[in-house]
Amino acid sequence: MKDIFILAIESSCDETSMAIVKNGNEVIGLSTNTQIPIHELYGGVVPELASRMHTENVLYVLDDLLKKTNFKLENIDAVAVTCGPGLTGSLLIGIEAAKVISYLYNKPLIAVNHIIGHIYANALTKKLNFPALALIVSGGHTNLVYMKDNYKFEILGGTLDDAIGEAFDKVARVLDLKYPGGPNIEKLAKNGKTTYKLPIPMNNQSMDFSFSGLKSGIINLVHNEIQRGNEINKEDLACSFQNIAVDEVVRKLEIAINKTKVSNVIVAGGVSANTYLRDKITELTKKYNINLGIPDLNYCTDNAAMIGAAAYYLYLKKDFSDLNLQPQPNKSLN
Ligand code: KG4
Ligand code: ZN
Repeated sequence: MKDIFILAIESSCDETSMAIVKNGNEVIGLSTNTQIPIHELYGGVVPELASRMHTENVLYVLDDLLKKTNFKLENIDAVAVTCGPGLTGSLLIGIEAAKVISYLYNKPLIAVNHIIGHIYANALTKKLNFPALALIVSGGHTNLVYMKDNYKFEILGGTLDDAIGEAFDKVARVLDLKYPGGPNIEKLAKNGKTTYKLPIPMNNQSMDFSFSGLKSGIINLVHNEIQRGNEINKEDLACSFQNIAVDEVVRKLEIAINKTKVSNVIVAGGVSANTYLRDKITELTKKYNINLGIPDLNYCTDNAAMIGAAAYYLYLKKDFSDLNLQPQPNKSLN
């Protein structure tokens, strides 16, 4: 079969990213402009600034990618773009860029769900096998999903309040850490101990998650200690939080493994970059003799390569969009 080259664009939040992906599993090139240094000044993503930065950067990122790969746009087979979920103004820039390329070069346009992109980031690391359980742990989502086959999603559980990445970011803020909080909590936690007693999230057998009680517990604890004039051991608090949050995710994953009896697990989303989480899930899947997929670190957080990987299956099904494609900020998995 002929090789398929997809130009992929991701701009759902604060990264302007483009990639050329071959056959859904090989990255020919990836170019990403991150806006973290700008949003860091405000302690989180400012949507208006994000869309403005995407507009400023989108052509530079494309130019960089084409120069780096020596690829010509006329040689791509399709152009794929994240259509949601995400920030409307941010999504719009990527979508408009993709439409222009699709129109000018007469190439099919493929709309990709951002969360599905995170799942297919795994295909860039190793071959996906089904049926599989996908654990999604990102800034906006926490889900357990049963996948009977490619693009067949059955949601087993989700968060009732905050996503796990959101909890990392909010706890980081009360510890005066910079945005994005997850990697900074992880760094602090490395030198800490689990000395703090914190609320344990929903201790039940459901496959849903809840992190807001844990988050509020930490916010209250920090405020109380400040009022009493006590010092907070930030390393210990970061370590206590990280372990409780991750252990909860791993506990729910184990419930799902027992219920579904799958022999494949894949992990997706920004929090899958966390070493403690990677180690705990590796340990759990070894116990059950399960084939585990976790994306390489550079494909855990938002990037266009994962969008190119997910788009490949839509290309094979000829599941194309037209130039009326619009951002879908609240798009769900199905
Ligand atoms: O998947 P992602 O890049 O964006 C969304 O689609 O939401 O995830 C971003 C989230 C942020 O909340 C960030 O703090 C978290 O992933 N994150 C981490 C780590 N790296 C990124 N959380 C914990 N440990 C990390 N090493
Ligand atoms: Zn993401």
